[in-house]
Amino acid sequence: MRTRVASLPDRSIRYLEAGEGVPLVWLHAFPLSADQWLPQLDRVPQGWRVIAPDLRGFRGAGPAFEQPGPERPTIDDYAADVFDLMTHLELPTAHVGGLSMGGYVAFAMVHRQPQRVAGLVLANTRAAADSPQGKLNRTAMLELVEREGSAGVAAQMVPKLLGETTRAEQPDLADVITRLITVNSPETIAAAVWAMRERPDSTPLLGRLSCPVTIIHGGEDALIPVGEAESMRRAIPGSRLVVLPRAGHLSNLEDPAGFSAALRSP
Ligand code: MLT
Repeated sequence: MRTRVASLPDRSIRYLEAGEGVPLVWLHAFPLSADQWLPQLDRVPQGWRVIAPDLRGFRGAGPAFEQPGPERPTIDDYAADVFDLMTHLELPTAHVGGLSMGGYVAFAMVHRQPQRVAGLVLANTRAAADSPQGKLNRTAMLELVEREGSAGVAAQMVPKLLGETTRAEQPDLADVITRLITVNSPETIAAAVWAMRERPDSTPLLGRLSCPVTIIHGGEDALIPVGEAESMRRAIPGSRLVVLPRAGHLSNLEDPAGFSAALRSP
């Protein structure tokens, strides 16, 4: 596994890379970082070149987010960063896999430049925009991050991110995830909350997807119900769904073997 930094004209993007072959870009969940993908980078299946960037601001990447108001980045800005990285790496196309917020970014990539997305992996994510209740929850999260910082966010989120089986059988994973969250600044976390809150509904895209799509979901996901994955499978022509029954929201970390087995061959 290699850790690299792409120096773009206006910012740098840290990314992790492993394997040789067909490019597959992994996009991490909120509020983690590219390090979420270490189990996948450790065991890259034959024929894939895996690239996992930190989304803007995460793990200290790129410009900080001190600017309030209209300067806030959007999910579309995160998607533009990933395309900039692909261009820097001279990759006209790549398979794109996103987990949860990473899936929102993958949808934004398809919306912007579908011809550059050769295939999709949609893990523990949903196509719909935030519901009114979801937007209220974002407001509560913004208050939490302002009041208690990244540690407060980790304390509240970690039990919900992991499935019941993982909490019982892999208790150490909670500390690993807490560390992944707390390296991120409160500003970066708040910016991502705003970006997710304002993201558009990607449901209209589903029926138009023409690339191969694999949907993976944890059967014990307490944040995004498995019904969301089933709806996407019904709406996306030719897609397939793999449910990992003993995983929660962070299925790639909770069941790395099952997650890898769910992927197609290049
Ligand atoms: C994530 O894991 O990325 C978040 O749970 C997504 C969200 O809050 O909508």
